[in-house]
Amino acid sequence: MKRTRRNAAEVTSSLDRTFSRRAFVRGAATFAALPLMPRMDPFRMLGPNGKLQLVKIAVGGMGESDLRELSAHPNVEFIGLCDVDVRGKEKLAGKFPNATWFADWREMLAKLGDRIDGVSISTPDHMHAPIAMTAMQMGKHVYCQKPLGHSALENRRLAEFAASHPKVVTQMGTQRSAMIGRRQQLQLLREGVIGKFKEIHAWSDRPAGWWPQGEPRPQGGEAPPAWLSWDLFLGVAPERPYLPNRYAPFNWRGTYDFGCGALGDMGCHIMDYPFMAAKLGLPVSVRCDATDGTDDEYPTKETITLTYAPTDMTAGNLQVKWYDGGLKPSNASMGILDDVDTRSNAIVVVGEKGTMLCPLDPEYDKAGKVVKSDEPQAWDPSKKAMALKLPKLEKRNHWHHWVDGCFGKAKPEANFEFAGLLCESLSVGAAASRFANRDLQYDAKAMVFSNEPASKVILQKPYRAGWAVKGLEA
Ligand SMILES: NC(=O)c1ccc[n+]([C@@H]2O[C@H](COP(=O)([O-])OP(=O)(O)OC[C@H]3O[C@@H](n4cnc5c(N)ncnc54)[C@H](O)[C@@H]3O)[C@@H](O)[C@H]2O)c1
Repeated sequence: MKRTRRNAAEVTSSLDRTFSRRAFVRGAATFAALPLMPRMDPFRMLGPNGKLQLVKIAVGGMGESDLRELSAHPNVEFIGLCDVDVRGKEKLAGKFPNATWFADWREMLAKLGDRIDGVSISTPDHMHAPIAMTAMQMGKHVYCQKPLGHSALENRRLAEFAASHPKVVTQMGTQRSAMIGRRQQLQLLREGVIGKFKEIHAWSDRPAGWWPQGEPRPQGGEAPPAWLSWDLFLGVAPERPYLPNRYAPFNWRGTYDFGCGALGDMGCHIMDYPFMAAKLGLPVSVRCDATDGTDDEYPTKETITLTYAPTDMTAGNLQVKWYDGGLKPSNASMGILDDVDTRSNAIVVVGEKGTMLCPLDPEYDKAGKVVKSDEPQAWDPSKKAMALKLPKLEKRNHWHHWVDGCFGKAKPEANFEFAGLLCESLSVGAAASRFANRDLQYDAKAMVFSNEPASKVILQKPYRAGWAVKGLEA
């Protein structure tokens, strides 16, 4: 049997009902996909019922939402589920009868190999790239939570791989980008309603009250509980002892080894569309202003300024300023009247012809009624409200858009080519917080701050011994 790589759409249209999965497996059983030695040109097919066969890596936290949303698509079937925390399996007992459970994603990819069409990844940030790269190299479509990678190198390599393998359908988990209000923001920015962009301000109220950050490396350690495979949780990260309620679940975000701080957590959601509309590339310089970063965790509050070379959508060099931990620019500094509610997570684009506020989310009352929308608002240079003609857009489900993309019926916007570019900027910003209060020049070719050589091991972080991933070598 000739093995050609075909996308799900081609397979669907040519699926011969008399050609059973068993016959296929007999013919093709000779190749065992070892995840760290992936095949570059696999033959994939849909399940016997014509469904896209997915596996899910991480089922707790956001993984639970991803599993729920993806499995609600009528043409999806989960054949494998994996989590390092066995409590996920207990919680979902009986819900996915056709899925085999694993603790180690490498074992799952190896054992289910050719039966898999796509992989959904919802692990903490430090494991996104190793899993996504391995899966893509096996020819699998990938839906991966945000931020895409944990280092500049990971983001770059994932973007490059996706760009050179267009049949692999990818999507980063920025589900808000499917919201109508967010898409209206993008469309109006692209149409030039506020003219060329002069500066961008973006902010998030996190991490305050959400997870620990700005603390020194915790001392001591305990034996991991029976429900957790701690070594698999660490994955590519350097070894450190387990501590209860400190890292897993959820509280890993502020720790350098596992997360990307508030910028990585919220920046992808907030900055994606203005970044896309401005057609930004990679930053040329960066500066983080902060006072309480530690040897182990990002600062509790910071301002990060990224500077980009001009594009045809910008009025010269563009500065993107990120504020977190409760910091926020004054309305006056952005050309907005003082009484405008600029929300707790939003982005403002200051243009030559006006200023646009792009809220991240709608706000709802207790009855679920929208009290503040996520539609864009804009003011002209005299601070007079501009009458925006909002485009009429269809509802979209971000997860299903990716599934439809796997069937050749959609082109996901948060594909890895775009997501890797965006997230490399976030990695650069997050790395700057480790060299706070200094102007840093980003040498994008060498992926290092040219005036801070010690940044190399952060921007191109090496992996723990035994965890090398082809394509992600530093
Ligand atoms: N798109 C969104 O709105 C959104 C919201 C929350 C989280 N996230 C993203 O989702 C990811 C997970 O965040 P979270 O809040 O769910 O974290 P969490 O710690 O609450 O849950 C992570 C899950 O992954 C499992 N896990 C950890 N390492 C694993 C591994 N190597 N293999 C398999 N399973 C593993 C954990 O046991 C847990 O079930 C992060 O990248 C985060 O940025 C996205």
